Amino acid sequence: MSEQSLETPLFPLYLFKDDFESVYEPSEDTFVLMDAIEKDLMIIKEMDPLICVEVGCGSGAVITSVAKCLDPNKRLYFGTDFNGKALLTTQKCGIVNGIDGCIQLVGTDLTQAIEERLKHSVDLLIFNAPYGPTDPQEVGISDISSAWAGGLNGRQVIDRFLRTVPKLLSHNGFCYLIVIKENNINEIKNIMKSLGFEMTVVLERKTYLEIIIALRFKRLPVIV
Ligand SMILES: C[S@@+](CC[C@H](N)C(=O)[O-])C[C@H]1O[C@@H](n2cnc3c(N)ncnc32)[C@H](O)[C@@H]1O
Repeated sequence: MSEQSLETPLFPLYLFKDDFESVYEPSEDTFVLMDAIEKDLMIIKEMDPLICVEVGCGSGAVITSVAKCLDPNKRLYFGTDFNGKALLTTQKCGIVNGIDGCIQLVGTDLTQAIEERLKHSVDLLIFNAPYGPTDPQEVGISDISSAWAGGLNGRQVIDRFLRTVPKLLSHNGFCYLIVIKENNINEIKNIMKSLGFEMTVVLERKTYLEIIIALRFKRLPVIV
């Protein structure tokens, strides 16, 4: 395993089979997010993040692999989800993969419970959002459907998340967000520009169902 790679965590079926009835199982979008972070690993390590937060941690696959790669004991890792079973699965993922107790689990809507305390302090903010275009009524139910139900144009949860980025991200921090083509990335780019962020497309992957895109946001340099 190279210094610059992210290891996919173990999910032995006999231990996790029942979890995946109510928690999102690591899927193509999960791996696109991990690949995007892996692609940027050099600049992430150079930035030397102290506080890393995964919103909607689900199974814990992403935050576990990030913690293992960046050193579980050297930094602070948080995983949030409003599905309580997801938090339990993330905890189990940490135990099975040898980083028991290194990820702080927070049951909250997006980042609400940690926003004040972590204001402008998050160096690495990650979200594989529910991006699927669905009926708006399907959004926000804290069960397995909340993993994909994104409401109108799949943007209902994404747009709420975008507004939290300026509050949380540190001066040099990076934010990674997974979206699909239908979410209209030009519109997302303009929203983030108006909030003072530049957007980069880190990766794109075409699957049978959708084109999955990994975006990175970073604060625009302040011109004096
Ligand atoms: C597409 S899944 C991603 C799970 C995992 N991060 C991964 O990449 O495999 C989206 C996750 O976000 C959570 N989620 C959706 N809306 C949320 C909200 N408003 N607040 C907290 N978590 C939310 C879901 O429960 C689900 O675990």
